Amino acid sequence: MLHDTVTKIKPITPSLSSTYEELKRQNTTPNTQFIMAMFDRLACRYDLFNHLTSMGMAAIWRKKTLQALAPGMSVLDLGCGTGDLTLGAVRRVGATGSVTGIDFSRNMLEMAARRYEKIKNINTAPAHFVAMRAEELPLKSEAFDAVVSGFVLRNIYENIDVILKGVRGSLIDGGMIRFLDITEPSSGIIRNLWSFYMQSATAFYGRILFGKDYPVSYLVDSAKRFLKPGAFTEKLSEHGFKEIEKRSFLFGIITLYSARK
Ligand SMILES: C[S@@+](CC[C@H](N)C(=O)[O-])C[C@H]1O[C@@H](n2cnc3c(N)ncnc32)[C@H](O)[C@@H]1O
Repeated sequence: MLHDTVTKIKPITPSLSSTYEELKRQNTTPNTQFIMAMFDRLACRYDLFNHLTSMGMAAIWRKKTLQALAPGMSVLDLGCGTGDLTLGAVRRVGATGSVTGIDFSRNMLEMAARRYEKIKNINTAPAHFVAMRAEELPLKSEAFDAVVSGFVLRNIYENIDVILKGVRGSLIDGGMIRFLDITEPSSGIIRNLWSFYMQSATAFYGRILFGKDYPVSYLVDSAKRFLKPGAFTEKLSEHGFKEIEKRSFLFGIITLYSARK
C-alpha cells in the first residue's frame, strides 16, 4: 500500500521548537524536510490537539468541506493526516465510491489506516493510503471526481504551483476541489484576537501535548506566509480552475475554497 518515494526523514535532533526558532532567527522559512519531520513527530496527539484548539469546530468545517461529495465518487484526500476528511468521505461516497488518502508522514498515515479499519463497513467506500509527497501528483491521471484537503495549504506554500498542477491533472473534467484551511483574518481586531489565542491557548495545549516538540509560532506564521484568500483564488484561476468560490467561517479565520476543473 505504501508508495515508497518519500525520502527517509533525517532526524532533527534538537527539539522541533528550538529548530524552528533557529530557522526564524536566520530569517529562513521551514522547508519540506522540516515540515515532514514535524508532522511525523506530532502525529500521536494531533487529533486531540486539533479538537481542543478548535473547540470542536474543526469537525463542523470538515463536514462543510465534504458536503458536495455524492455517492459513487472517487475522492483524493490531499495531506490526509490522521484521516478525518478521509473517514468522512468514505461514508459520504458510500460503497460504490472510493477514497485515496495521500500524505508524506508515515506516522500520520498509519493512524489514518488504523482508524479506517475500525469504522469500515458494507456501506463505506474502500480507502487506500499512499505515502507520497503532494509534489508527486498526479498519482493517477484524470482519475478523481474530487480532491479535498483540510489544513494543508499553508504547509505546501513552497511548491504550491507544482501541486496545483498535479491536483488539476488528477481530476476528471468538471471534477471539483474543496480546500479548507486557517487564514489570517483581514480585520485588525479579529487578527489581534486570533494571534493572541494562537500564542496563548493553542500554545498551551501544544506544550502540554507535545512538550518541547511543539513549535509555538508555526501555526500563525504559516497562515501569514500563505497567500491571502483573494490571491489564492487568483492562483486557482491562473491554473485553469473555474467556478471558484471562497467561504469564510469564524470571521475569516477559516476559509473553504471550492472550484472545478
Ligand atoms: C495540519 S495536517 C492536516 C491533516 C488532515 N488533513 C486534517 O484535516 O486534519 C497537514 C498534513 O499535511 C501533510 N503534508 C504537508 N505537506 C505535505 C506534502 N508536501 N506532501 C504530502 N503531505 C503533506 C502533513 O504530513 C500533515 O499530515
